[in-house]
Amino acid sequence: MDQGGLNQHGITVAPTGSGAGAEIGGVDLRHIGGAQVAAIERAWIAYGVVLFRGQQLTDLDLVAFSRRLGGLDLAPIQETGRRSVAGLPEIYVVSNVIENGAPIGSLGSGEAVWHTDMSYLPEPPKASLLYALEIPSEGGNTSFVDMYQALERLPPDLRRRASGLQVKHDGTYNSGGYVRQGVVPTGDPRTSPGTLHPLICRHPDSGREMLYLGRRRNSYIDGMDLAESEALLDALWAGMDEPAIGYTHRWQVGDLVLWDNRSTMHRRDAFDPASRRVMHRTQVKGSAPPAAA
Ligand code: OGA
Ligand code: MN
Repeated sequence: MDQGGLNQHGITVAPTGSGAGAEIGGVDLRHIGGAQVAAIERAWIAYGVVLFRGQQLTDLDLVAFSRRLGGLDLAPIQETGRRSVAGLPEIYVVSNVIENGAPIGSLGSGEAVWHTDMSYLPEPPKASLLYALEIPSEGGNTSFVDMYQALERLPPDLRRRASGLQVKHDGTYNSGGYVRQGVVPTGDPRTSPGTLHPLICRHPDSGREMLYLGRRRNSYIDGMDLAESEALLDALWAGMDEPAIGYTHRWQVGDLVLWDNRSTMHRRDAFDPASRRVMHRTQVKGSAPPAAA
């Protein structure tokens, strides 16, 4: 595994010092070779979240770098429909900005609750890349939590209870609390649309066991009474805000954050709706559906 400050093919990998994540230095993502991509992939698997400061990427550069990691998904359908960049359906716009009366992106300016991207699908993306074009002077930080450590920290009896169970990852609401366009909302977790995944999965690349929760709202443990499912989910979700297993990113323009969308969850703080925040995101297709540990 790469260690702090270690120089590989000209790039440095320095752990954030928090409970997850590393900063990668010495790289211009517009011009990288295969050995550098391989080193970035190793760090991404090892640390869950890797960040690059001071990049100068056009949309085409963002798509080109993302493709080095695998095939890309198209931008998902959100509350405002499919908001992508003209001519580049792979780029999803996360923004509160309204132009000519229409939102240019999704998720607004409120809090985005803990989630994994698109885990309501049978094969969720393996990576998400988020690039900062405009950021507010305060607020709008993005936090990550490491789901390997979340599993390790479960009390043994709770882990035993979770073992072998499947959980529904709801597809009704996005992380901003908005109903996805085309979905009829329901508050009943048993009947809401979504996909069942094992609660404890084996990561297809690292081989390590991790907790796989997706998102809390409308989550449902298959086969249980609703009350029993709610109680178990509340217990499993209790440790997610623990800084010892997470990292909070304070954005600067030109930052690119690449996360492992299987072994981490993320959330975003609210920010002043009168300020502008514009982020462009791509997603790398999953290599394998989440499989039971
Ligand atoms: C995302 C997301 C949060 C943010 O792009 O998947 O959850 O900080 N974004 O914009
Ligand atoms: Mn997200």
